[in-house]
Amino acid sequence: MNYFDYRDGRLFAEEIPVSEIVQRIGTPVYIYSARTLRRHFRIIRQAFEGTDTLICYAMKALSNLSILKLFSDLGAGFDIVSAGELMRCLKAGADPEKIVFSGVGKTDHEIETALTADILMINVESRPELYRISEVARRLRRDARVSLRVNPDLDPGTHPHISTGHRDSKFGIPLSQVREYYAEARSLPNLVLAGLSTHIGSQITDTSPFVEAGRKVAGIVRDLRADGIALKYLDLGGGLGIPYQEEPSDPAKYASALLGPLRELGVKIIIEPGRVLVGNAGIMVTRVLYVKETDVKRFVVVDGAMNDLIRPVLYEAYHEIRPVEERGHSALETADVVGPVCESGDFFARERQLPPVEAGELLAIMSAGAYGFVMASNYNSRPRAPEIVVDGSRFHVVRERENFDDLVRGESIVSLREGPDA
Ligand code: LLP
Repeated sequence: MNYFDYRDGRLFAEEIPVSEIVQRIGTPVYIYSARTLRRHFRIIRQAFEGTDTLICYAMKALSNLSILKLFSDLGAGFDIVSAGELMRCLKAGADPEKIVFSGVGKTDHEIETALTADILMINVESRPELYRISEVARRLRRDARVSLRVNPDLDPGTHPHISTGHRDSKFGIPLSQVREYYAEARSLPNLVLAGLSTHIGSQITDTSPFVEAGRKVAGIVRDLRADGIALKYLDLGGGLGIPYQEEPSDPAKYASALLGPLRELGVKIIIEPGRVLVGNAGIMVTRVLYVKETDVKRFVVVDGAMNDLIRPVLYEAYHEIRPVEERGHSALETADVVGPVCESGDFFARERQLPPVEAGELLAIMSAGAYGFVMASNYNSRPRAPEIVVDGSRFHVVRERENFDDLVRGESIVSLREGPDA
């Protein structure tokens, strides 16, 4: 459920017509609904009510400071994957005790930053990383709370680029070696074995992979207890899918699938939802520049591009496209919706049935809140779009549109004329 709805044929973001925002801000533009964000957070929290669960928002999905503040105010913690993300969420007021740090390639600097900030725990992905954290912690005279990320070797049935829980992926420690790793970790200085973590992939709409993952990690927690290692936290990652085109997932079913195998363990649960909190809370609005007809196709050329939203070409992702102003009933037409970037992969939809559109019209690309703006680039020297948050009948610019100065910031012009020594 979200708060982007039509009233008399006009698309509204909560109480404001989208066209009104565009009039002031221009296109392309990202628009988020605060009410939807709060609602999604509460629904997930409710699904886990009565259990000892900490929700660490996977901020890689959408990391604007105002959004982080909104979640932090609701009591969320954060799942981070870089020092940049750590700085961002601390700046937004995050409680370090609710931050977990994931990722296969943490640098010494990142480990230091995390230990200095005294975050809840670092999710470790390899043996050398374990040694590195121990070494850095010793140098800083601190104890590092760690959790080993296990790769449960299962197929979550999602796009290969966002599937992480199978044994040939770069993520996690093989199931068969986890006990050994913990035994080894126990002997390393300045490490506190705080938990166990896993994350099997993203945009998962079937609950059975979560049950299987839960069952496998529960087994490990029991084995470790037998070895005398009692873990406090079990971090089950994120991954719950949203309805881009598919049926909506049921958070309550997700929670019981996840928790079912873990009920008797008496550990504190951490989850790292990203997409499910923010995906349907954001849209990207773009203006039609031209309608181009060739012998074989109709192209709707818009002013947004793959640099603004890369999901369609990168994951063959489906994003619904809606007119911002409906123009009554007319027969649908088939078109490719494409951007101005010089790549054939620069499209938002292919062979899509759309109401007839004309140059100048506005289109809303739906479900663009997660992995939308955060994956934007300056390719083709295109400034990144602004980000707007709507809250009721007010809207706020929470990131301005970039300008030419932003595009060349940090660059310098050196003279590279061929000299006598060439
Ligand atoms: N925890 C870890 C360790 C992760 O790697 C991820 C996502 C999450 C949590 C959050 O997963 P979510 O609840 O959002 O599914 N750019 C891709 C998605 C990449 C997901 C990466 N990891 C996309 O646009 O579909």
